[in-house]
Amino acid sequence: MSTEDLGKSKFVNMLLKPAGSAMESRLRHLLQDPEKILRGADLQPGQTVLEVGSGTGFFSMAAARIIGDEGHLIAMDPLAAYVDRLNEKVEAAGLQNVRVVRRDALQARLDAASIDKVLLFGVLPLIPLRHPLTALPLNRLLPEMHRVLKPEGTLAVWMFPIAGLVPLSIRRSGLFAYLHKRNGVHNYRLCNAKS
Ligand SMILES: C[S@@+](CC[C@H](N)C(=O)[O-])C[C@H]1O[C@@H](n2cnc3c(N)ncnc32)[C@H](O)[C@@H]1O
Repeated sequence: MSTEDLGKSKFVNMLLKPAGSAMESRLRHLLQDPEKILRGADLQPGQTVLEVGSGTGFFSMAAARIIGDEGHLIAMDPLAAYVDRLNEKVEAAGLQNVRVVRRDALQARLDAASIDKVLLFGVLPLIPLRHPLTALPLNRLLPEMHRVLKPEGTLAVWMFPIAGLVPLSIRRSGLFAYLHKRNGVHNYRLCNAKS
């Protein structure tokens, strides 16, 4: 079963609802400040941003405010329950610059070279396994993110509580070069970008 099909399962969505509540809880907001963490990704007004694994929108709402009315946030997640919840929040906040998409990011189905910034926030496992059961295997995710990013675009990765082997694996992929770490966010530019 594909990640997208799994996301349609009523059972899976029911099981994941409590996790969704935890992801947007008051306690989390006390412990983690999404705006401060996002500053580490250097988002700019007017950018087109792809957020992979947006969940219930802990980072999406702040990201949408930073990029402003001229910007465009594509918040992507395969789970219907999370997509519905985020759509509710976007509507309640009156945000016009967010498109919530229920989709597996391994096949993002976005135009090549169309994205200024990819956010991988809280979505990668500590150890980047190549096992097919890992929802976001780096060896499949990175080429797709490289494809959708503009030549001058950047990838920003934030993981909690520690980044484990992921930063090293991204560097070793040969697709991205390390720029810097700020506010816990690892930033990369494209290697071999076709301009
Ligand atoms: C731990 S949650 C983090 C959610 C959010 N980024 C946050 O920090 O609150 C991981 C999210 O990644 C999503 N995810 C898992 N596999 C995915 C895939 N193949 N494509 C896009 N999103 C995926 C899950 O559905 C889940 O919402």
